[in-house]
Amino acid sequence: MQDKIPKHIAFIMDGNGRWAKERGLARTAGHRRGVQRLKEIVRGASELGVEIVTFFAFSTENWDRPKKEIDALMRYLDKFLDGQIKELERNNMRFRVIGQGNPLPKFIQQKIQKAESRTKDNTGLIVVLALNYGSRQEIVDAVKRFTTYALKDDALLKQLTPEIFSRYLYTADLPDPDLLIRTSGEMRISNFMLWQLSYAELYFFNKYWPDFTINDLKEAIRDFKTRERRFGGIDADQEVN
Ligand code: FPP
Repeated sequence: MQDKIPKHIAFIMDGNGRWAKERGLARTAGHRRGVQRLKEIVRGASELGVEIVTFFAFSTENWDRPKKEIDALMRYLDKFLDGQIKELERNNMRFRVIGQGNPLPKFIQQKIQKAESRTKDNTGLIVVLALNYGSRQEIVDAVKRFTTYALKDDALLKQLTPEIFSRYLYTADLPDPDLLIRTSGEMRISNFMLWQLSYAELYFFNKYWPDFTINDLKEAIRDFKTRERRFGGIDADQEVN
């Protein structure tokens, strides 16, 4: 048992399409509702004292979706960036994006940079969006970055540890998630933060993301508090014999 609430919660916001289909709506209606939920969860997480929230908003594989759906997602993202910058600034929140900038549209990349730089000194909740993100790609990018330095300095390779390697990931300045929440009943990680989730507690919700509420977040946190986190060790009160 632990009393602490998770410092960093990561979300796989799954089920927007199915939520819409069950209501006879276009898939994009599910995404639109999903963005509203995301905003509510940001507010709620901040009130609960969570320090970092990371949302998987667009994966490197999502480019395979119909152009109409991708265009709608980019439109929502554009609107989200316009509206949220002020909201984040007002609430002392910091905004970060993880993933590869290209091939996101140039104007979106510019808005992301603006949002990141305008909120970089804020000290409240850190809101991270994983955009054009794929964990295997992130690890490959980290290897490439590390190698460019290691080729110039032999000592770097000899001294390499997991802790040092993690500084080459997109999340270099962020602690690992303590809790991963995935909605829609699917029990997969789907190429999301494979390295960073090594010791995270996993929570799978049967609801679709557009139905995920603050109360559901509170329920996941309550459950998290009941988990024994041993990080590969044993409980302090257990005898070794
Ligand atoms: C998964 O549902 C969800 C996504 C691929 C995108 C998640 C994105 C949002 C909630 C909105 C984007 C966020 C911003 C800030 C613009 P799915 O479409 O895979 O659902 P399905 O599995 O039921 O088809």
